[in-house]
Amino acid sequence: MATKRIRSIAVMTGGGDCPGLNAVIRAVVKTAINKHKLDVWGIQDGYLGLIEHRIDRLDYNDVSNILTLGGTILGTSNIANPFRYAYKTGRGLQYKDVSNDCIQALQEREIDALVCIGGDGTMATAAAFAKKGLTVMGVPKTIDNDLYGTDVTFGFDTAVTTATEAIDKVHTTASSHHRVMIVEVMGRYAGWIALHAGVAGGADVILIPEIPYELPKICDYVLARSNRGKRFSIICAAEGAKPKGGSMVVSHRVASSPDPIRLGGIGNKLAADISDKTGLDCRAVVLGHVQRGGTPTPYDRTLATNFGNTAMELLMKGVKNHLVVLKDGQFTSISLRQVAGRTKTVPANSGLVRAAKAVGTSFGV
Ligand code: F6P
Repeated sequence: MATKRIRSIAVMTGGGDCPGLNAVIRAVVKTAINKHKLDVWGIQDGYLGLIEHRIDRLDYNDVSNILTLGGTILGTSNIANPFRYAYKTGRGLQYKDVSNDCIQALQEREIDALVCIGGDGTMATAAAFAKKGLTVMGVPKTIDNDLYGTDVTFGFDTAVTTATEAIDKVHTTASSHHRVMIVEVMGRYAGWIALHAGVAGGADVILIPEIPYELPKICDYVLARSNRGKRFSIICAAEGAKPKGGSMVVSHRVASSPDPIRLGGIGNKLAADISDKTGLDCRAVVLGHVQRGGTPTPYDRTLATNFGNTAMELLMKGVKNHLVVLKDGQFTSISLRQVAGRTKTVPANSGLVRAAKAVGTSFGV
């Protein structure tokens, strides 16, 4: 069957915001308008705007001068799932499937394809729309770098840069006060940010979910440093770090979100535990959403531009229901079906883990 020619596309950003979103939007819209002469629409606030039919035309000027801007000019949301849309009633939260209504809203505007810029939650919903006949193309976003199928997601490099700068700054106060400073970084169930920022910032201990830690090992390590005259230690802990046989620290739950669990608190827990066991003065710094903000690094700007451009070129070639990926240096794509429900975590024997161990970094084991 011949593929229908695409004349009009919509673009949306879903999930948590991330440096480089605007660079992707710019690349998608400019490629669509300049090269392929398409009509372009923007959906406000991710799937929430699609559910609420907040869909507006985008033109060249709307995406001019946004390359370096953090956040997303379209807005985003990580609490709306069209296939299980939560709404409040007198009996609490109820759920309904509004996906057909979303597809109709796109059809009424004669939109032929949807470019979904997002992480695993956004891609799972995009895959469900694809199953219903919508033409979609995914672009891999997340500071967590945990999206399956791509070597890297845009936003990760900026988050690592921010976290590394924080570790660098904490070094001076740690050494002046002879303290153990714990820097808690984001990353959900994957330790990519902690591993990369920890290595780049010269952390003495790196704790990631993939390598559950043993508290006595961490205590022995920082005490041994202290006994050697190194009167401070820096620990970079992923928010998902957990003790062997124990669980991650949950900060709170967002009932209406497709993934309701929000992690956070491991930094303060470690500070209390290590201080208790060693008598050393410990402090925790939680970087939180600072890691999602600010202008994207040059690497993220170029990656985002390549991803956005590749998404449009593939769509125009008839590729659909795929996620654009960077694999072994090549911009290509894989089926959304392969991505859905999978997470890319740090392999315990990864090259960077081995290199960190070789320079004396402890993983608390
Ligand atoms: O997925 C990006 C991320 O920043 C995670 O690292 C973090 O666990 C989560 O989102 C925080 O979500 P929220 O913005 O809802 O607090």
